Amino acid sequence: WEMFADDIAAILDLKRRRRAVILAHNYQTPEIFHCVADIRGDSLALARDAQGLDADVIVMAGVHFMAETAKMMNPDKTVLIPSLQAGCSLADSITAADVRALKRAHPGVPVVTYVNSTADVKAESDICCTSANARHIVESLGVPRVIMIPDEFLAQNVQRETGVEIITWAGHCEVHERFTPQEIRDWRRDNPGVAVLAHPECPPGVVAEADFSGSTAAMSDFVARGAHDRVLLVTECSMSDNLAAAHPGIDFVRPCNLCPHMKRITLPAIRHALESMTHEVTIPGHLLAGGRRAVERMLAA
Ligand code: 13P
Ligand code: SF4
Repeated sequence: WEMFADDIAAILDLKRRRRAVILAHNYQTPEIFHCVADIRGDSLALARDAQGLDADVIVMAGVHFMAETAKMMNPDKTVLIPSLQAGCSLADSITAADVRALKRAHPGVPVVTYVNSTADVKAESDICCTSANARHIVESLGVPRVIMIPDEFLAQNVQRETGVEIITWAGHCEVHERFTPQEIRDWRRDNPGVAVLAHPECPPGVVAEADFSGSTAAMSDFVARGAHDRVLLVTECSMSDNLAAAHPGIDFVRPCNLCPHMKRITLPAIRHALESMTHEVTIPGHLLAGGRRAVERMLAA
C-alpha cells in the first residue's frame, strides 16, 4: 500500500477542497475501491446513490456510461470521468439510429435498455435496466414481447427466466463473452466444492453451469452470507480482489478477465481529474431529459 500513499492522501485532500465525492464500481482496483471511494457498488447502486448527494463534484471511478448516468441524475453538479478512454464494448455496440430502426421494425414493442449504453440510446428508450433488476423490469411491463438492448446474452438469460419473448441486439461485454462452459467445468473439477457465481452478461451456456447468477452487488451479497468457504466469480478480476480484502477467510478461485476500460481509472488519473477538473461529462439538454426519464422509470418500477 505504501506506493499508493501519496496519491491517496492527495485525493482525500482534494475531495475536501472540491467538495467532491467518488463513486466506484465493483470492478475498480482495491486501492481505489477501499481507500478513496465514498460510494461503492454495482451499476444500479451507482445510478440510485448518485441522486441528491451533498457535493459539488462527482468523480466516477467507473466507465463513461456510468458518469453519464450520474450526470443525468445530477444535472447541476460537475461530473468528472478520470479517463475519456474508459468506454464499454456494450455501449459502443449500438447507436440511437439503430434503436430508431428497431422501433420502426417492431412498432409498439417497448424498448428496455441496459444502462451500459450511451445517453442518446437511453433517450430513445422506454425504460432502463441493470443486471440487478433486468428480470423485474421486463416482468413489470406486463407484455409478451420486448426489445432488449444492447446485451444479447443478458437478454437471452432474462428470456429464459421470464418466458417473455425478447428481440435482442448483438452487443456483448468483451470481458464476460470470453468465458466458456468448458472452463467452468474444468474449474469445478479442479476445485471440489467451489460455489460458482456467474454474471448475467456471460453467455447462457456459462450461466447454466453456475450455482448462482446475479449482478456484481448480488455476488457480493452471496459471498457475504458466508455459506461457502471457496467461491469462483465468473466476472472481472477486481471483483475477487475487492471481496478477498473484505473476506479474508474465504478462498477465491480467480479466473481473471480484465476490463481494459475500467482499468483506465487509476489513482493518478483520479488525482489529476480532481486537480485539473477534467474530464467534465456533459449531455445535451434534450438527451439528458429523455435519458433521465428512462432511468427514473427503472428506479420507480
Ligand atoms: P453490474 O455491476 O451492474 O453487475 O455491472 C457489471 C458491469 O459489467 C458493469 O460494467
Ligand atoms: Fe463494459 Fe464489460 Fe467493461 Fe462492464 S466489464 S464496462 S460491460 S466491457
